[in-house]
Amino acid sequence: MITVSKRLEGIGEYYFSQKLAEIAEINKQGEAVINLGIGSPDMPPHPEVIQVLQEEVIKPNVHGYQSYKGAEALRNGVAKWYNKWYGVDLNPATEILPLIGSKEGIMHICMTYVDEGTIVLVPNPGYPTYRSAAKLAGGTIVEYNLKEENNWLIDFDELEKNIASLKSKAGAQMAFPKGGGREGALMFVNYPQMPTGQLPTKKFFEELVAFGKKHNILICHDNPYSFILNETPMSLLSIEGAKDVVLELNSLSKASNMAGWRVGVLCGAKERINEVLVFKSNMDSGMFLPVQLAAAKALSLGKEWYDGINAVYRKRRIKAYELLDLLQCTHSADQVGMFVWAKIPAKYKNGFELSDDVLSKTRVFITPGGIFGSAGEKYIRVSLCSTEEKFQESIDRIKSKLKN
Ligand SMILES: Cc1ncc(COP(=O)(O)O)c(C=O)c1O
Repeated sequence: MITVSKRLEGIGEYYFSQKLAEIAEINKQGEAVINLGIGSPDMPPHPEVIQVLQEEVIKPNVHGYQSYKGAEALRNGVAKWYNKWYGVDLNPATEILPLIGSKEGIMHICMTYVDEGTIVLVPNPGYPTYRSAAKLAGGTIVEYNLKEENNWLIDFDELEKNIASLKSKAGAQMAFPKGGGREGALMFVNYPQMPTGQLPTKKFFEELVAFGKKHNILICHDNPYSFILNETPMSLLSIEGAKDVVLELNSLSKASNMAGWRVGVLCGAKERINEVLVFKSNMDSGMFLPVQLAAAKALSLGKEWYDGINAVYRKRRIKAYELLDLLQCTHSADQVGMFVWAKIPAKYKNGFELSDDVLSKTRVFITPGGIFGSAGEKYIRVSLCSTEEKFQESIDRIKSKLKN
């Protein structure tokens, strides 16, 4: 008998991986499910980005293995982008590590800093990969709750109490930096927050860095949504002294419409980048050069690129609000990012029940908030990665097929 490793115990298949199979099955029976679930941009990258890929791919000398640290052109592109948009200075030779998507970066960070029992703080609600990657690496997951009444920001007083009780408990080691003999832990943070769409403030980011320093916690800030429906992109690395405790992940998946290309980046202090590189260089052998050069092009685009995609998302968001009103869900009007997060009406037990009801009666799929953690149970998340026409059709189906 073949058995899977112990580390897979308690780790389910990724929710969307299962759900997409179910939706494909329904579609096979001749129905057309409208998927308002997943955050994969439906618009293409800028034509000049595709042009760079086309021009590069036909060259004879671009097909070999690439540097483990990424192409210089991409690292320079990231450095300029961080300086231009976030006001952050990064040394392209030492403080930037291109990734095959930021999702893999989450795993690399866990494998680099998490031992059996290392405390890993994860947001609830939050991106499920933080939890699963930390668990795969053997970490002890400690959730910190985000609440609507606190604008989905971290309640540092509550977290201080949790840290105090964790420190008094035996068994849970807090181990950052490794081998340094100091106490510490790893914490995943993500603002603009997914799934709640909450923006950070400078004061909040300052508190976060101070909190990390006080407790010697390595903060991994995951920042893929800062350009979507937001005029003031912010990096946690812009806070003074942040490099002492912060690693930041960024991605071209969302704001450059390149989710399938798999390009992300890790930024932080030279020592941290080198630590992660020890793991990563044993896992993959770099990214295809034409993809890296095209990604550098994408990062050089001006404000009109972001204005263009945001104009589309803004119109779709109006439709999403209309759809949510029909479902009697409530939502705040100042969310950013690629999704709308909304509270379900009392007649549904939780978001799963609403999602199943809507899918079975109208063939429209909406993500239940519970997949992001228990604090998301009473919520749903609508993705803006569908056309206005698809939104209109969803609205029409709900009006005609869902009896209130
Ligand atoms: C919060 C968050 N982080 C990271 C990712 C992964 O992005 P990438 O495509 O760069 O791996 C996603 C994708 O949905 C996300 O929502």
